[in-house]
Amino acid sequence: MIPKSFIQDLLNRLDIVDVIDRYVPLKKAGTNFVACCPFHTEKSPSFTVSQSKQFYHCFGCGAHGTAIGFVMEHTGMGFVEAIEDLAKGIGLAVPQEASNNITQVKVAPDLYDLMQSATRYYREQLKVTPRAIEYLKKRGLSGEVAARFGIGYSPDDWQNLRAAVSNYQDASLVETGLVIEGEGGKRYDRFRDRIMFPIVNVKGQIIGFGGRVLDKGEPKYLNSPETTLFEKGHELYGLYQAQKAIRAQQRVIVVEGYMDVVALAQNGVEYAVATLGTATTPFHVQKLLRLCEQIVFCFDGDKPGQKAAWRALENALPQLQDGKRIGFLFLPEEHDPDTYIREYGRDAFEHEVENSLPLSGYLLRELTAQVDLRTQEGRSALLKNAQPLLTAITAPTTALILRKEVAALAGIEQAELEGLWSIKPIAAPRRAAPPKTKRAAPSGMRSLLRCLVMKPELARQLPSDWQSDGAEGAAIHALTDWLNESADETSTASMIQHFQGSMHEPVFSVAQGEVMQWGEEFDVTAEFEGVLKKMRLDAIEAEMNALLAKGLQMTSAERELRARLQAESNQLKAQAS
Ligand code: UTP
Ligand code: MN
Repeated sequence: MIPKSFIQDLLNRLDIVDVIDRYVPLKKAGTNFVACCPFHTEKSPSFTVSQSKQFYHCFGCGAHGTAIGFVMEHTGMGFVEAIEDLAKGIGLAVPQEASNNITQVKVAPDLYDLMQSATRYYREQLKVTPRAIEYLKKRGLSGEVAARFGIGYSPDDWQNLRAAVSNYQDASLVETGLVIEGEGGKRYDRFRDRIMFPIVNVKGQIIGFGGRVLDKGEPKYLNSPETTLFEKGHELYGLYQAQKAIRAQQRVIVVEGYMDVVALAQNGVEYAVATLGTATTPFHVQKLLRLCEQIVFCFDGDKPGQKAAWRALENALPQLQDGKRIGFLFLPEEHDPDTYIREYGRDAFEHEVENSLPLSGYLLRELTAQVDLRTQEGRSALLKNAQPLLTAITAPTTALILRKEVAALAGIEQAELEGLWSIKPIAAPRRAAPPKTKRAAPSGMRSLLRCLVMKPELARQLPSDWQSDGAEGAAIHALTDWLNESADETSTASMIQHFQGSMHEPVFSVAQGEVMQWGEEFDVTAEFEGVLKKMRLDAIEAEMNALLAKGLQMTSAERELRARLQAESNQLKAQAS
Protein backbone atom coordinates (compact mmCIF):
# COMPACT_ATOMS: atom_id res chain seq x y z
CA MET A 1 0.00 0.00 0.00
CA ILE A 2 1.19 3.47 -0.85
CA PRO A 3 0.54 5.75 2.12
CA LYS A 4 -2.20 8.35 1.56
CA SER A 5 0.09 11.10 2.76
CA PHE A 6 2.53 10.26 0.00
CA ILE A 7 -0.15 10.56 -2.67
CA GLN A 8 -1.09 13.97 -1.29
CA ASP A 9 2.53 15.00 -1.16
CA LEU A 10 3.04 13.85 -4.73
CA LEU A 11 0.01 15.80 -5.96
CA ASN A 12 1.35 18.88 -4.20
CA ARG A 13 4.74 18.65 -5.82
CA LEU A 14 3.60 17.84 -9.33
CA ASP A 15 2.33 20.41 -11.73
CA ILE A 16 -0.53 18.91 -13.70
CA VAL A 17 0.26 21.26 -16.58
CA ASP A 18 3.76 19.75 -16.96
CA VAL A 19 2.42 16.23 -16.63
CA ILE A 20 -0.29 16.60 -19.25
CA ASP A 21 1.81 18.74 -21.57
CA ARG A 22 4.19 15.82 -22.00
CA TYR A 23 1.40 13.81 -23.62
CA VAL A 24 -0.88 16.54 -24.99
CA PRO A 25 0.57 19.94 -25.83
CA LEU A 26 -1.39 22.58 -23.88
CA LYS A 27 -2.15 26.18 -24.79
CA LYS A 28 -2.81 28.94 -22.29
CA ALA A 29 -6.35 30.31 -22.52
CA GLY A 30 -7.35 32.82 -19.86
CA THR A 31 -6.75 31.39 -16.40
CA ASN A 32 -6.54 27.85 -17.73
CA PHE A 33 -4.79 25.69 -20.28
CA VAL A 34 -6.63 23.99 -23.09
CA ALA A 35 -6.14 21.35 -25.79
CA CYS A 36 -8.21 19.15 -28.04
CA CYS A 37 -9.35 16.35 -25.77
CA PRO A 38 -7.21 13.21 -26.04
CA PHE A 39 -10.14 11.11 -24.82
CA HIS A 40 -12.59 11.87 -27.59
CA THR A 41 -12.41 13.22 -31.11
CA GLU A 42 -12.99 16.93 -31.46
CA LYS A 43 -11.98 19.87 -33.61
CA SER A 44 -12.06 22.73 -31.10
CA PRO A 45 -10.51 22.35 -27.66
CA SER A 46 -12.83 21.64 -24.74
CA PHE A 47 -10.22 19.85 -22.65
CA THR A 48 -9.33 22.32 -19.89
CA VAL A 49 -6.59 22.14 -17.26
CA SER A 50 -6.61 24.31 -14.15
CA GLN A 51 -3.10 24.99 -12.94
CA SER A 52 -4.22 26.68 -9.74
CA LYS A 53 -6.52 23.82 -8.77
CA GLN A 54 -4.48 21.01 -10.33
CA PHE A 55 -7.24 19.17 -12.10
CA TYR A 56 -8.48 18.73 -15.66
CA HIS A 57 -11.98 18.65 -17.06
CA CYS A 58 -13.27 18.07 -20.56
CA PHE A 59 -16.45 19.98 -21.35
CA GLY A 60 -17.00 17.73 -24.35
CA CYS A 61 -16.82 14.22 -22.93
CA GLY A 62 -16.73 14.83 -19.19
CA ALA A 63 -13.30 13.26 -18.64
CA HIS A 64 -11.84 14.69 -15.46
CA GLY A 65 -9.35 14.06 -12.70
CA THR A 66 -5.95 14.82 -11.25
CA ALA A 67 -2.46 14.31 -12.66
CA ILE A 68 -2.55 10.72 -11.41
CA GLY A 69 -5.94 10.14 -13.01
CA PHE A 70 -4.72 11.61 -16.27
CA VAL A 71 -1.71 9.32 -16.52
CA MET A 72 -3.91 6.30 -15.74
CA GLU A 73 -6.51 7.31 -18.32
CA HIS A 74 -4.04 8.24 -20.98
CA THR A 75 -1.56 5.38 -20.73
CA GLY A 76 -3.73 2.67 -19.23
CA MET A 77 -1.31 2.35 -16.32
CA GLY A 78 -2.73 1.14 -13.02
CA PHE A 79 -2.94 3.37 -9.96
CA VAL A 80 0.31 2.18 -8.39
CA GLU A 81 2.13 2.19 -11.68
CA ALA A 82 1.00 5.75 -12.46
CA ILE A 83 2.13 6.95 -9.05
CA GLU A 84 5.52 5.30 -9.47
CA ASP A 85 5.92 6.80 -12.88
CA LEU A 86 5.03 10.31 -11.72
CA ALA A 87 7.17 10.03 -8.59
CA LYS A 88 10.15 8.89 -10.60
CA GLY A 89 9.73 11.86 -12.91
CA ILE A 90 10.34 14.27 -10.02
CA GLY A 91 12.90 12.14 -8.21
CA LEU A 92 10.69 10.91 -5.38
CA ALA A 93 10.92 7.36 -4.05
CA VAL A 94 7.59 5.70 -3.37
CA PRO A 95 7.46 4.51 0.24
CA GLN A 96 5.59 1.33 1.06
CA GLU A 97 3.33 0.90 4.02
CA ALA A 98 3.60 -2.34 5.96
CA SER A 99 0.79 -4.90 5.55
CA ASN A 100 1.56 -5.15 1.94
CA ASN A 101 0.43 -8.00 -0.23
CA ILE A 102 1.52 -6.57 -3.54
CA THR A 103 5.24 -7.07 -3.68
CA GLN A 104 6.80 -4.06 -5.26
CA VAL A 105 9.99 -4.71 -7.09
CA LYS A 106 12.44 -2.02 -7.92
CA VAL A 107 13.90 -2.50 -11.36
CA ALA A 108 17.40 -1.37 -12.13
CA PRO A 109 17.14 0.73 -15.27
CA ASP A 110 19.93 -1.14 -17.02
CA LEU A 111 17.73 -4.22 -17.47
CA TYR A 112 15.65 -2.18 -19.89
CA ASP A 113 18.82 -1.12 -21.67
CA LEU A 114 19.80 -4.76 -22.09
CA MET A 115 16.43 -5.58 -23.60
CA GLN A 116 16.79 -2.63 -25.91
CA SER A 117 20.23 -3.76 -27.05
CA ALA A 118 19.00 -7.28 -27.67
CA THR A 119 16.07 -5.98 -29.72
CA ARG A 120 18.38 -3.86 -31.84
CA TYR A 121 20.64 -6.84 -32.37
CA TYR A 122 17.80 -9.20 -33.34
CA ARG A 123 16.45 -6.64 -35.81
CA GLU A 124 19.85 -6.30 -37.46
CA GLN A 125 20.13 -10.07 -37.71
CA LEU A 126 16.75 -10.25 -39.43
CA LYS A 127 18.02 -7.90 -42.15
CA VAL A 128 20.90 -10.25 -42.96
CA THR A 129 18.97 -13.51 -42.79
CA PRO A 130 17.07 -14.13 -46.06
CA ARG A 131 15.48 -17.28 -44.67
CA ALA A 132 13.83 -15.29 -41.85
CA ILE A 133 12.76 -12.47 -44.18
CA GLU A 134 11.24 -15.05 -46.50
CA TYR A 135 9.32 -16.57 -43.63
CA LEU A 136 7.75 -13.24 -42.67
CA LYS A 137 6.97 -12.42 -46.30
CA LYS A 138 5.32 -15.78 -46.72
CA ARG A 139 3.12 -14.87 -43.79
CA GLY A 140 2.09 -11.69 -45.54
CA LEU A 141 4.06 -9.14 -43.52
CA SER A 142 5.57 -6.00 -44.97
CA GLY A 143 8.81 -4.43 -43.82
CA GLU A 144 6.91 -1.51 -42.29
CA VAL A 145 4.75 -3.67 -40.09
CA ALA A 146 7.72 -5.81 -39.05
CA ALA A 147 9.50 -2.59 -38.07
CA ARG A 148 6.45 -1.23 -36.25
CA PHE A 149 6.47 -4.29 -34.00
CA GLY A 150 10.25 -4.43 -33.79
CA ILE A 151 10.28 -7.98 -35.13
CA GLY A 152 13.74 -9.56 -35.37
CA TYR A 153 15.57 -12.84 -35.68
CA SER A 154 17.84 -14.69 -33.26
CA PRO A 155 20.50 -16.69 -35.15
CA ASP A 156 21.11 -20.39 -34.69
CA ASP A 157 24.00 -20.08 -32.24
CA TRP A 158 24.43 -20.63 -28.52
CA GLN A 159 25.83 -17.25 -27.53
CA ASN A 160 24.48 -14.75 -30.06
CA LEU A 161 24.10 -12.00 -27.54
CA ARG A 162 27.86 -11.75 -26.98
CA ALA A 163 27.70 -9.49 -30.02
CA ALA A 164 24.96 -7.35 -28.50
CA VAL A 165 26.13 -6.64 -24.95
CA SER A 166 29.41 -5.55 -23.40
CA ASN A 167 29.61 -8.34 -20.84
CA TYR A 168 27.97 -11.69 -21.50
CA GLN A 169 28.81 -12.78 -17.94
CA ASP A 170 26.79 -9.95 -16.36
CA ALA A 171 24.25 -11.31 -13.86
CA SER A 172 21.55 -9.00 -15.21
CA LEU A 173 21.51 -10.90 -18.50
CA VAL A 174 20.19 -13.93 -16.65
CA GLU A 175 17.81 -11.69 -14.75
CA THR A 176 16.20 -10.49 -17.99
CA GLY A 177 15.63 -14.09 -19.05
CA LEU A 178 17.64 -13.58 -22.24
CA VAL A 179 20.40 -15.88 -21.08
CA ILE A 180 20.16 -19.19 -19.26
CA GLU A 181 22.81 -20.43 -16.87
CA GLY A 182 23.20 -24.18 -17.14
CA GLU A 183 24.92 -26.59 -14.82
CA GLY A 184 28.50 -25.64 -14.04
CA GLY A 185 27.71 -21.97 -14.77
CA LYS A 186 27.78 -22.43 -18.53
CA ARG A 187 25.69 -19.72 -20.19
CA TYR A 188 23.70 -19.79 -23.38
CA ASP A 189 21.01 -17.74 -25.13
CA ARG A 190 17.40 -18.64 -24.46
CA PHE A 191 16.36 -17.71 -28.00
CA ARG A 192 18.07 -19.45 -30.90
CA ASP A 193 16.93 -19.62 -34.51
CA ARG A 194 13.63 -17.94 -33.84
CA ILE A 195 11.58 -15.02 -35.15
CA MET A 196 11.63 -12.55 -32.28
CA PHE A 197 8.59 -10.56 -31.13
CA PRO A 198 9.52 -7.93 -28.53
CA ILE A 199 6.91 -7.41 -25.80
CA VAL A 200 6.60 -3.72 -24.98
CA ASN A 201 4.88 -2.18 -21.95
CA VAL A 202 2.65 0.90 -22.11
CA LYS A 203 5.63 3.13 -21.51
CA GLY A 204 7.37 1.77 -24.58
CA GLN A 205 9.96 -0.23 -22.63
CA ILE A 206 10.84 -3.71 -23.84
CA ILE A 207 10.10 -6.22 -21.11
CA GLY A 208 10.20 -9.60 -22.81
CA PHE A 209 10.19 -11.57 -26.03
CA GLY A 210 8.23 -14.24 -27.78
CA GLY A 211 10.24 -16.34 -30.20
CA ARG A 212 8.70 -18.48 -32.94
CA VAL A 213 10.38 -21.36 -34.72
CA LEU A 214 10.61 -20.91 -38.49
CA ASP A 215 9.93 -24.45 -39.40
CA LYS A 216 8.41 -27.20 -37.39
CA GLY A 217 9.77 -27.54 -33.90
CA GLU A 218 8.84 -27.56 -30.27
CA PRO A 219 7.85 -25.41 -28.63
CA LYS A 220 6.32 -23.38 -31.44
CA TYR A 221 6.64 -20.26 -29.33
CA LEU A 222 9.19 -19.74 -26.61
CA ASN A 223 8.50 -16.85 -24.28
CA SER A 224 10.56 -14.85 -21.81
CA PRO A 225 10.05 -16.14 -18.29
CA GLU A 226 8.32 -13.89 -15.79
CA THR A 227 10.98 -11.52 -14.53
CA THR A 228 11.09 -8.33 -12.52
CA LEU A 229 10.29 -6.60 -15.80
CA PHE A 230 7.58 -8.86 -17.08
CA GLU A 231 4.38 -10.11 -15.49
CA LYS A 232 2.27 -12.03 -17.99
CA GLY A 233 -1.12 -11.53 -16.38
CA HIS A 234 -0.63 -7.77 -16.50
CA GLU A 235 0.75 -7.22 -19.97
CA LEU A 236 -0.83 -7.36 -23.38
CA TYR A 237 1.15 -7.86 -26.55
CA GLY A 238 0.76 -4.97 -28.99
CA LEU A 239 -0.92 -2.57 -26.55
CA TYR A 240 1.81 0.01 -26.90
CA GLN A 241 1.47 0.07 -30.68
CA ALA A 242 -2.34 -0.11 -30.60
CA GLN A 243 -3.07 2.53 -27.95
CA LYS A 244 -3.78 5.36 -30.33
CA ALA A 245 -6.05 3.34 -32.59
CA ILE A 246 -7.89 1.90 -29.57
CA ARG A 247 -8.71 5.40 -28.39
CA ALA A 248 -9.70 6.60 -31.83
CA GLN A 249 -11.97 3.59 -32.46
CA GLN A 250 -13.06 3.33 -28.81
CA ARG A 251 -12.68 -0.39 -29.29
CA VAL A 252 -10.08 -3.07 -28.72
CA ILE A 253 -9.90 -6.60 -30.07
CA VAL A 254 -8.28 -9.19 -27.85
CA VAL A 255 -6.74 -12.15 -29.67
CA GLU A 256 -4.62 -15.11 -28.63
CA GLY A 257 -1.46 -14.85 -30.66
CA TYR A 258 1.43 -12.59 -31.58
CA MET A 259 0.85 -13.30 -35.24
CA ASP A 260 -2.83 -12.44 -34.94
CA VAL A 261 -2.01 -8.95 -33.69
CA VAL A 262 0.60 -8.40 -36.35
CA ALA A 263 -1.53 -9.77 -39.19
CA LEU A 264 -4.51 -7.65 -38.15
CA ALA A 265 -2.30 -4.54 -38.12
CA GLN A 266 -0.93 -5.54 -41.51
CA ASN A 267 -4.48 -5.57 -42.82
CA GLY A 268 -5.46 -2.22 -41.33
CA VAL A 269 -6.96 -3.33 -38.01
CA GLU A 270 -4.57 -1.58 -35.67
CA TYR A 271 -6.55 -1.84 -32.45
CA ALA A 272 -5.79 -5.47 -31.52
CA VAL A 273 -3.80 -6.85 -28.60
CA ALA A 274 -2.96 -10.38 -27.47
CA THR A 275 -2.79 -12.08 -24.11
CA LEU A 276 0.59 -13.64 -23.62
CA GLY A 277 -0.06 -17.35 -23.54
CA THR A 278 -2.26 -16.91 -20.47
CA ALA A 279 -5.97 -16.53 -19.90
CA THR A 280 -7.44 -13.04 -20.02
CA THR A 281 -7.18 -11.75 -16.45
CA PRO A 282 -9.46 -9.28 -14.64
CA PHE A 283 -6.47 -6.98 -14.68
CA HIS A 284 -6.36 -7.10 -18.48
CA VAL A 285 -10.05 -6.27 -18.71
CA GLN A 286 -9.75 -3.40 -16.26
CA LYS A 287 -6.82 -1.94 -18.13
CA LEU A 288 -8.60 -2.10 -21.48
CA LEU A 289 -11.88 -0.69 -20.19
CA ARG A 290 -9.95 2.33 -19.00
CA LEU A 291 -8.90 2.98 -22.58
CA CYS A 292 -12.11 2.49 -24.52
CA GLU A 293 -15.81 1.68 -24.63
CA GLN A 294 -15.78 -1.78 -26.13
CA ILE A 295 -13.74 -4.97 -25.88
CA VAL A 296 -14.24 -7.71 -28.46
CA PHE A 297 -12.65 -11.04 -27.71
CA CYS A 298 -11.74 -12.90 -30.85
CA PHE A 299 -10.09 -16.20 -30.17
CA ASP A 300 -9.30 -19.09 -32.45
CA GLY A 301 -12.25 -21.07 -33.77
CA ASP A 302 -10.98 -24.31 -32.22
CA LYS A 303 -11.77 -25.91 -28.85
CA PRO A 304 -8.98 -24.16 -26.91
CA GLY A 305 -10.17 -20.88 -28.42
CA GLN A 306 -13.70 -21.46 -27.13
CA LYS A 307 -12.34 -22.33 -23.73
CA ALA A 308 -10.29 -19.14 -23.73
CA ALA A 309 -13.43 -17.16 -24.57
CA TRP A 310 -15.29 -18.61 -21.60
CA ARG A 311 -12.38 -17.88 -19.27
CA ALA A 312 -12.33 -14.32 -20.58
CA LEU A 313 -16.04 -14.03 -19.82
CA GLU A 314 -15.58 -15.30 -16.28
CA ASN A 315 -12.75 -12.92 -15.60
CA ALA A 316 -14.54 -9.98 -17.19
CA LEU A 317 -17.68 -10.28 -15.03
CA PRO A 318 -16.32 -8.48 -11.95
CA GLN A 319 -14.96 -5.71 -14.15
CA LEU A 320 -18.10 -4.99 -16.15
CA GLN A 321 -19.27 -1.40 -16.24
CA ASP A 322 -22.75 -0.38 -17.32
CA GLY A 323 -22.52 1.38 -20.64
CA LYS A 324 -19.27 -0.30 -21.68
CA ARG A 325 -19.63 -3.18 -24.08
CA ILE A 326 -17.96 -6.56 -24.23
CA GLY A 327 -18.45 -8.82 -27.21
CA PHE A 328 -17.30 -12.22 -28.41
CA LEU A 329 -16.49 -13.08 -31.98
CA PHE A 330 -16.40 -16.78 -32.83
CA LEU A 331 -14.51 -17.57 -35.99
CA PRO A 332 -15.08 -20.65 -38.13
CA GLU A 333 -13.33 -23.62 -36.53
CA GLU A 334 -10.39 -23.77 -38.93
CA HIS A 335 -9.52 -20.09 -38.55
CA ASP A 336 -7.69 -17.75 -36.27
CA PRO A 337 -7.80 -13.95 -36.73
CA ASP A 338 -4.60 -14.09 -38.78
CA THR A 339 -5.83 -16.63 -41.32
CA TYR A 340 -9.32 -15.13 -41.36
CA ILE A 341 -8.32 -11.60 -42.23
CA ARG A 342 -5.79 -12.81 -44.78
CA GLU A 343 -8.46 -14.89 -46.48
CA TYR A 344 -11.48 -12.58 -46.26
CA GLY A 345 -9.95 -9.12 -45.77
CA ARG A 346 -10.45 -6.23 -43.39
CA ASP A 347 -14.05 -5.34 -44.23
CA ALA A 348 -15.30 -8.86 -43.70
CA PHE A 349 -13.41 -9.09 -40.42
CA GLU A 350 -14.68 -5.76 -39.13
CA HIS A 351 -18.18 -6.70 -40.17
CA GLU A 352 -17.87 -9.77 -37.93
CA VAL A 353 -16.55 -7.56 -35.14
CA GLU A 354 -19.57 -5.26 -35.50
CA ASN A 355 -21.81 -8.27 -35.15
CA SER A 356 -20.01 -9.91 -32.26
CA LEU A 357 -22.13 -11.62 -29.65
CA PRO A 358 -22.67 -9.41 -26.56
CA LEU A 359 -21.37 -10.85 -23.31
CA SER A 360 -24.85 -11.27 -21.84
CA GLY A 361 -26.01 -13.14 -24.94
CA TYR A 362 -23.01 -15.44 -24.78
CA LEU A 363 -23.52 -16.02 -21.07
CA LEU A 364 -27.19 -16.94 -21.47
CA ARG A 365 -26.49 -19.06 -24.54
CA GLU A 366 -23.95 -21.17 -22.68
CA LEU A 367 -26.05 -21.41 -19.52
CA THR A 368 -29.13 -22.59 -21.35
CA ALA A 369 -27.21 -24.96 -23.63
CA GLN A 370 -26.04 -26.93 -20.61
CA VAL A 371 -29.51 -27.79 -19.30
CA ASP A 372 -32.97 -28.86 -20.37
CA LEU A 373 -35.27 -26.00 -19.40
CA ARG A 374 -38.38 -28.10 -19.92
CA THR A 375 -37.62 -30.04 -16.78
CA GLN A 376 -37.64 -28.93 -13.19
CA GLU A 377 -34.16 -30.42 -12.75
CA GLY A 378 -32.92 -28.43 -15.72
CA ARG A 379 -34.29 -25.17 -14.40
CA SER A 380 -32.83 -25.79 -10.99
CA ALA A 381 -29.44 -26.65 -12.55
CA LEU A 382 -29.63 -23.41 -14.49
CA LEU A 383 -30.02 -21.47 -11.25
CA LYS A 384 -27.13 -23.33 -9.68
CA ASN A 385 -24.80 -22.77 -12.63
CA ALA A 386 -25.77 -19.14 -12.99
CA GLN A 387 -25.23 -18.22 -9.35
CA PRO A 388 -21.43 -17.82 -9.25
CA LEU A 389 -21.44 -15.98 -12.55
CA LEU A 390 -24.22 -13.52 -11.86
CA THR A 391 -23.14 -12.77 -8.33
CA ALA A 392 -19.72 -11.76 -9.64
CA ILE A 393 -21.24 -8.85 -11.55
CA THR A 394 -21.18 -5.53 -9.74
CA ALA A 395 -22.39 -3.29 -12.59
CA PRO A 396 -25.96 -2.62 -11.38
CA THR A 397 -27.89 -2.44 -14.64
CA THR A 398 -26.19 -5.45 -16.18
CA ALA A 399 -26.69 -7.43 -12.98
CA LEU A 400 -30.34 -6.45 -12.83
CA ILE A 401 -31.09 -7.42 -16.42
CA LEU A 402 -29.33 -10.75 -16.15
CA ARG A 403 -31.03 -11.61 -12.87
CA LYS A 404 -34.40 -10.88 -14.43
CA GLU A 405 -33.58 -13.00 -17.48
CA VAL A 406 -32.26 -15.97 -15.55
CA ALA A 407 -35.17 -15.81 -13.11
CA ALA A 408 -37.61 -15.77 -16.03
CA LEU A 409 -35.88 -18.72 -17.68
CA ALA A 410 -36.15 -20.67 -14.45
CA GLY A 411 -39.77 -19.62 -14.02
CA ILE A 412 -39.28 -17.69 -10.79
CA GLU A 413 -39.35 -14.03 -9.74
CA GLN A 414 -36.26 -11.86 -9.49
CA ALA A 415 -36.91 -11.41 -5.77
CA GLU A 416 -37.10 -15.19 -5.33
CA LEU A 417 -33.79 -15.62 -7.10
CA GLU A 418 -32.20 -13.00 -4.87
CA GLY A 419 -33.67 -14.68 -1.80
CA LEU A 420 -32.43 -18.08 -2.95
CA TRP A 421 -28.90 -16.82 -3.45
CA SER A 422 -29.02 -14.58 -0.37
CA ILE A 423 -27.90 -11.56 -2.34
CA LYS A 424 -28.85 -7.95 -1.95
CA PRO A 425 -31.84 -7.15 -4.13
CA ILE A 426 -31.42 -4.64 -6.90
CA ALA A 427 -34.48 -2.43 -7.09
CA ALA A 428 -35.31 0.80 -8.81
CA PRO A 429 -33.85 3.59 -6.65
CA ARG A 430 -36.56 4.87 -4.35
CA ARG A 431 -37.42 8.51 -4.74
CA ALA A 432 -36.44 10.55 -1.73
CA ALA A 433 -39.44 11.39 0.45
CA PRO A 434 -40.50 15.00 -0.03
CA PRO A 435 -38.95 17.19 2.68
CA LYS A 436 -41.28 18.02 5.55
CA THR A 437 -40.15 21.58 5.92
CA LYS A 438 -38.88 23.62 3.07
CA ARG A 439 -35.14 23.27 2.89
CA ALA A 440 -32.58 25.27 1.02
CA ALA A 441 -33.17 25.02 -2.71
CA PRO A 442 -30.95 22.47 -4.47
CA SER A 443 -29.24 25.33 -6.26
CA GLY A 444 -27.99 26.40 -2.83
CA MET A 445 -26.37 22.98 -2.37
CA ARG A 446 -24.86 23.26 -5.78
CA SER A 447 -23.37 26.67 -5.11
CA LEU A 448 -22.04 25.40 -1.82
CA LEU A 449 -20.41 22.42 -3.47
CA ARG A 450 -18.75 24.65 -6.04
CA CYS A 451 -17.10 26.66 -3.27
CA LEU A 452 -16.01 23.51 -1.49
CA VAL A 453 -14.43 22.11 -4.63
CA MET A 454 -12.34 25.27 -4.88
CA LYS A 455 -11.47 25.25 -1.19
CA PRO A 456 -12.39 22.02 0.58
CA GLU A 457 -11.37 23.20 4.05
CA LEU A 458 -14.26 25.69 4.02
CA ALA A 459 -16.50 22.74 4.86
CA ARG A 460 -15.20 23.01 8.43
CA GLN A 461 -17.08 26.29 8.70
CA LEU A 462 -20.47 24.80 7.90
CA PRO A 463 -22.81 25.48 10.83
CA SER A 464 -23.57 22.33 12.78
CA ASP A 465 -27.28 22.55 11.95
CA TRP A 466 -26.94 23.02 8.18
CA GLN A 467 -29.61 21.21 6.19
CA SER A 468 -28.27 18.98 3.46
CA ASP A 469 -30.24 18.12 0.39
CA GLY A 470 -29.93 15.81 -2.59
CA ALA A 471 -26.85 14.27 -4.12
CA GLU A 472 -24.86 17.47 -3.60
CA GLY A 473 -25.71 17.45 0.09
CA ALA A 474 -24.60 13.83 0.39
CA ALA A 475 -21.35 14.68 -1.37
CA ILE A 476 -20.74 17.54 1.05
CA HIS A 477 -21.27 15.19 3.99
CA ALA A 478 -18.73 12.79 2.48
CA LEU A 479 -16.35 15.68 2.00
CA THR A 480 -16.69 16.67 5.66
CA ASP A 481 -15.92 13.10 6.70
CA TRP A 482 -12.85 13.11 4.48
CA LEU A 483 -11.69 16.40 6.00
CA ASN A 484 -12.02 14.97 9.47
CA GLU A 485 -9.91 11.99 8.50
CA SER A 486 -7.14 13.78 6.64
CA ALA A 487 -6.61 16.81 8.76
CA ASP A 488 -3.27 17.86 7.31
CA GLU A 489 -3.84 17.91 3.58
CA THR A 490 -6.92 19.44 2.08
CA SER A 491 -6.03 20.53 -1.45
CA THR A 492 -8.55 20.28 -4.25
CA ALA A 493 -6.41 17.72 -6.08
CA SER A 494 -6.20 15.47 -3.00
CA MET A 495 -9.94 15.67 -2.62
CA ILE A 496 -10.63 14.84 -6.27
CA GLN A 497 -8.21 11.93 -6.10
CA HIS A 498 -9.91 10.68 -2.95
CA PHE A 499 -13.38 10.68 -4.51
CA GLN A 500 -12.27 9.28 -7.86
CA GLY A 501 -14.44 6.25 -8.55
CA SER A 502 -16.74 6.86 -5.55
CA MET A 503 -20.52 7.31 -5.76
CA HIS A 504 -20.01 11.04 -5.24
CA GLU A 505 -17.70 11.45 -8.22
CA PRO A 506 -20.43 12.57 -10.68
CA VAL A 507 -21.59 15.56 -8.63
CA PHE A 508 -18.05 16.59 -7.82
CA SER A 509 -17.24 16.39 -11.50
CA VAL A 510 -20.09 18.75 -12.41
CA ALA A 511 -18.90 21.22 -9.80
CA GLN A 512 -15.32 20.95 -11.06
CA GLY A 513 -16.49 21.87 -14.54
CA GLU A 514 -18.42 24.84 -13.16
CA VAL A 515 -15.52 26.33 -11.23
CA MET A 516 -13.07 25.93 -14.10
CA GLN A 517 -13.49 29.57 -15.09
CA TRP A 518 -13.07 31.00 -11.59
CA GLY A 519 -9.73 32.76 -11.61
CA GLU A 520 -7.12 32.93 -8.86
CA GLU A 521 -8.42 36.28 -7.72
CA PHE A 522 -11.95 34.95 -7.18
CA ASP A 523 -12.85 35.28 -3.49
CA VAL A 524 -14.17 31.82 -2.70
CA THR A 525 -14.53 32.48 1.00
CA ALA A 526 -16.78 35.48 0.38
CA GLU A 527 -18.83 33.44 -2.10
CA PHE A 528 -19.12 30.63 0.43
CA GLU A 529 -20.29 32.98 3.18
CA GLY A 530 -22.75 34.56 0.76
CA VAL A 531 -24.22 31.17 -0.11
CA LEU A 532 -24.55 30.19 3.54
CA LYS A 533 -26.23 33.48 4.32
CA LYS A 534 -28.65 33.05 1.46
CA MET A 535 -29.45 29.52 2.58
CA ARG A 536 -30.10 30.71 6.12
CA LEU A 537 -32.32 33.55 4.91
CA ASP A 538 -34.33 31.11 2.78
CA ALA A 539 -34.77 28.83 5.76
CA ILE A 540 -35.89 31.72 7.97
CA GLU A 541 -38.34 32.86 5.38
CA ALA A 542 -39.85 29.40 5.05
CA GLU A 543 -40.22 29.10 8.80
CA MET A 544 -41.76 32.53 9.15
CA ASN A 545 -44.23 31.82 6.37
CA ALA A 546 -45.29 28.64 8.12
CA LEU A 547 -45.84 30.58 11.32
CA LEU A 548 -47.66 33.35 9.54
CA ALA A 549 -50.04 30.83 8.01
CA LYS A 550 -51.25 30.05 11.53
CA GLY A 551 -52.39 33.64 11.85
CA LEU A 552 -54.38 34.11 15.03
CA GLN A 553 -53.71 30.56 16.15
CA MET A 554 -50.06 31.35 16.88
CA THR A 555 -49.16 30.62 20.48
CA SER A 556 -47.22 33.21 22.41
CA ALA A 557 -44.08 31.04 22.12
CA GLU A 558 -44.54 30.99 18.38
CA ARG A 559 -45.00 34.74 18.31
CA GLU A 560 -41.74 35.10 20.17
CA LEU A 561 -39.99 32.76 17.75
CA ARG A 562 -41.28 34.78 14.83
CA ALA A 563 -39.92 37.96 16.31
CA ARG A 564 -36.52 36.36 16.84
CA LEU A 565 -36.46 35.08 13.27
CA GLN A 566 -37.40 38.51 12.00
CA ALA A 567 -34.59 40.07 13.96
CA GLU A 568 -32.07 37.54 12.67
CA SER A 569 -33.26 38.11 9.14
CA ASN A 570 -32.93 41.87 9.48
CA GLN A 571 -29.47 41.51 10.93
CA LEU A 572 -28.31 39.18 8.15
CA LYS A 573 -29.68 41.49 5.49
CA ALA A 574 -28.00 44.46 7.07
CA GLN A 575 -24.55 42.85 6.96
CA ALA A 576 -22.44 44.05 4.10
CA SER A 577 -22.65 41.45 1.41
P1 UTP B 1 -1.23 -20.46 -31.44
O1 UTP B 1 -0.75 -21.85 -31.45
O2 UTP B 1 -2.65 -20.18 -31.75
O3 UTP B 1 -0.27 -19.73 -32.41
O4 UTP B 1 -0.85 -19.83 -30.06
P2 UTP B 1 -0.53 -18.55 -33.44
O5 UTP B 1 -0.53 -17.26 -32.71
O6 UTP B 1 -1.67 -18.82 -34.31
O7 UTP B 1 0.83 -18.58 -34.23
P3 UTP B 1 1.12 -19.03 -35.68
O8 UTP B 1 0.07 -18.42 -36.51
O9 UTP B 1 1.11 -20.50 -35.69
O10 UTP B 1 2.47 -18.48 -35.86
C1 UTP B 1 -1.37 -18.63 -29.60
C2 UTP B 1 -0.44 -18.03 -28.59
O11 UTP B 1 -0.19 -18.93 -27.52
C3 UTP B 1 1.14 -18.82 -27.07
C4 UTP B 1 1.74 -17.68 -27.86
O12 UTP B 1 1.58 -16.48 -27.13
C5 UTP B 1 0.93 -17.68 -29.12
O13 UTP B 1 0.97 -16.45 -29.82
N1 UTP B 1 1.91 -20.06 -27.33
C6 UTP B 1 1.56 -20.93 -28.27
C7 UTP B 1 3.04 -20.27 -26.59
O14 UTP B 1 3.37 -19.47 -25.72
N2 UTP B 1 3.80 -21.38 -26.84
C8 UTP B 1 3.46 -22.26 -27.80
O15 UTP B 1 4.20 -23.22 -28.00
C9 UTP B 1 2.32 -22.04 -28.53
MN1 MN C 1 -2.02 -18.55 -36.24
